[in-house]
Amino acid sequence: MLKIAVLGCGRIGRMHAENINSHQRATLVGVYDVVKEASRSVAQKLGVREFESAAEIFASAEVDAVLIATSTATHADFIEQAVAAGKPILCEKPIDLSLARVRCCAARIAGSDVPIMLGFVRRFDTGHRAVRQAIEAGQIGELHQVVITSRDPDIAPDAYIEVSGGIFRDMTIHDFDMARFILGEEIETVTAAGARLVSPALMERCDDWDTVSVLMTTASGKQCVIGNSRRAVYGYDQRVEAFGNEGMAISENRTESNLRLSRATFTDQAPPLQNFFIERYAQAFASEIDAFVNAVEKGVAPEVGFDDGEKALMLAEAALLSVREGRTVRMEELG
Ligand SMILES: NC(=O)c1ccc[n+]([C@@H]2O[C@H](COP(=O)([O-])OP(=O)(O)OC[C@H]3O[C@@H](n4cnc5c(N)ncnc54)[C@H](O)[C@@H]3O)[C@@H](O)[C@H]2O)c1
Repeated sequence: MLKIAVLGCGRIGRMHAENINSHQRATLVGVYDVVKEASRSVAQKLGVREFESAAEIFASAEVDAVLIATSTATHADFIEQAVAAGKPILCEKPIDLSLARVRCCAARIAGSDVPIMLGFVRRFDTGHRAVRQAIEAGQIGELHQVVITSRDPDIAPDAYIEVSGGIFRDMTIHDFDMARFILGEEIETVTAAGARLVSPALMERCDDWDTVSVLMTTASGKQCVIGNSRRAVYGYDQRVEAFGNEGMAISENRTESNLRLSRATFTDQAPPLQNFFIERYAQAFASEIDAFVNAVEKGVAPEVGFDDGEKALMLAEAALLSVREGRTVRMEELG
């Protein structure tokens, strides 16, 4: 049994704690949150230990591995501390909002063989993964284009947007990782457009955009287009499409049931889309824990690591630069 402790008992930490607790080859040793009530309620609900500090977790011989689900600004520090303590890490995305801080963290942990997995959960969605597998199996021939659509059901509260780091680092970051995962090769150029159509005043104040499109190309000429909106009135819109010279593979939205209703006045009416990420990616979040446990047990590198976190953030920086300067950005500009 892999004994895991969870840092951070907010919206996502609580869910991870429950997933670890119900995993067959992992045990939730305990939890810690800087807000006592948050860790206490999870500890009591799941019958596990409430740690007094992060340092207590890193020093504990009872803890084999850690899951970092605290606020983004703490991730890089906790990664460094966990590496120093020799505890394998599953860390929520992003590593940090600053590329300089991510690179400083990379330098500090260089040479360590402590496994680090980044929580790019969408790679573990069976639908999105099946698109990648179809490409690998040659089912669509040579890959030419990828289209990723990712729209939130509604804009987050102002307080969240204000500290989010902007749409590219906060939201599109998942799609940048999905683009790399589906394309299977590195991206060379990024061209992005941003607009303030959902909440213009808030976006103006935060110097951010709520509606963005990104066009990326690879050295071999493959193209990927990402479309994001902070608000889709019909719900959490999550689709991935891969187009090749011999076919196409699509990972579609998921609805609450498979029912499709047709009547005299309409056809194919479906139940609402699964809302929001905790529901839509429930299977993926559970599979992500499973992938982490497997990697640590087998002593192999996790399939999505620190490097992937840095590369996704570099793509976010490139997109930001592209919108600000109204031009195509070459990835080599980011060093
Ligand atoms: N993979 C995904 O799809 C996904 C979705 C949502 C959030 N996230 C990421 O997960 C992280 C947490 O997001 P959330 O929505 O759960 O936020 P949240 O605000 O609900 O929870 C964060 C928790 O961390 C705690 N915390 C902050 N600083 C701490 C510290 N120094 N020590 C211990 N606890 C501390 C806070 O008290 C809070 O309870 C963020 O980095 C976010 O980007 C990932």
